[in-house]
Amino acid sequence: MTEAAAPTAKHRPRVFSGVQPTGALTLGNYLGALKRFVEMQDEAGMETIYCIVDLHAITVWQEPSSLRDAIRSVAAAYLASGLDPARSIIFNQSQVSAHAELGWICSCVVRLGWLNRMTQFKEKAGKNAEAQSGGLYMYPALMAADILAYRATHVPVGEDQKQHLELSRDIAAKFNKDFGVPDFFPLPEPMIGGPAPRVMSLRDGTKKMSKSDPSDMSRINLTDDADTIAAKIRKAKTDPEPLPEAAEGLDGRPEARNLVGIMAALTDRTVEQVLAEYAGQGFGVFKPRLAEAAVAHLSPITAEMSRLMADPAEIDRILADGAARADAIARPILAEVYDTVGLLRPRP
Ligand code: TYM
Repeated sequence: MTEAAAPTAKHRPRVFSGVQPTGALTLGNYLGALKRFVEMQDEAGMETIYCIVDLHAITVWQEPSSLRDAIRSVAAAYLASGLDPARSIIFNQSQVSAHAELGWICSCVVRLGWLNRMTQFKEKAGKNAEAQSGGLYMYPALMAADILAYRATHVPVGEDQKQHLELSRDIAAKFNKDFGVPDFFPLPEPMIGGPAPRVMSLRDGTKKMSKSDPSDMSRINLTDDADTIAAKIRKAKTDPEPLPEAAEGLDGRPEARNLVGIMAALTDRTVEQVLAEYAGQGFGVFKPRLAEAAVAHLSPITAEMSRLMADPAEIDRILADGAARADAIARPILAEVYDTVGLLRPRP
């Protein structure tokens, strides 16, 4: 994975990303984020830090009795997907207070005009913006703080996070400029790529696959069993045409494009390689093969997740260890931020 050049020579290559603990993760989260987190963990010379962003989750109402389980479940998904606590720092956001502290400072750097442009807020708030929490509106400033607290240089995310990441870059650049400290924060590079940067709903190829879609048939959850996965793929919306020979042939066929992208991502191939195998075939042939590939890839992850969830104390131990290691990186950076802004040093 070499889409991004080193942002600035001054800063060591460091990956940061996060996932919200707001319900069962989907195949979109897995292909757009988790699978790529694991790939980056395996890249030489990259330090990798992966967070469960519970402070982001509470920008909308979360039932306290299920939030803790949801946090552990994202941790289990990280581990089951192949993240290794010996090689990556895996932790929960609220357990490292630098996120909240730097989040406040970033909210004083960000401009309201910038926040007003965020399409995700508009989508989530709908016509009811007045009734949303202040946190939901400020959310991208906290996201910038997550990244900048580690001076992270690379951020693997799905395509839907592109605008938020651009805002993180703008906040970093404004901080550097306002305080006359060029290069204080690196401008984080979004790492959006692979064959499935935006996995779409199985019911409507123009809508993102999402945890919050009212129809469970629209998504594959990481907790779905083999029969459920196969049934959802069998019932996925498609068109009557056979698969084309080249990727351009998928233009105007969002459902076909989505399923081919999913197949490519699950089997570590490009869209072109998948089309080379299936050109001229209809979905009657393609869908069962896709279901097989999805079950083969996801079943071991689902099984490992339930094994891990049976021992929450072990998950908590891994998260506590990760938080201590994350804190050791973020605290000194936060102290430098305080110095730069003119605040008194935070207590050690
Ligand atoms: P969240 O929790 O909505 O999603 C987690 C990750 O999954 C990706 N993703 C998808 N990728 C492809 N297709 C889809 N259908 C799909 N749905 C979700 C998301 O792009 C994301 O990478 N704001 C972030 C969390 C966050 C964060 C950060 C990320 C907070 N701080 C700092 C990076 C760096 C979010 O809500 O992701």
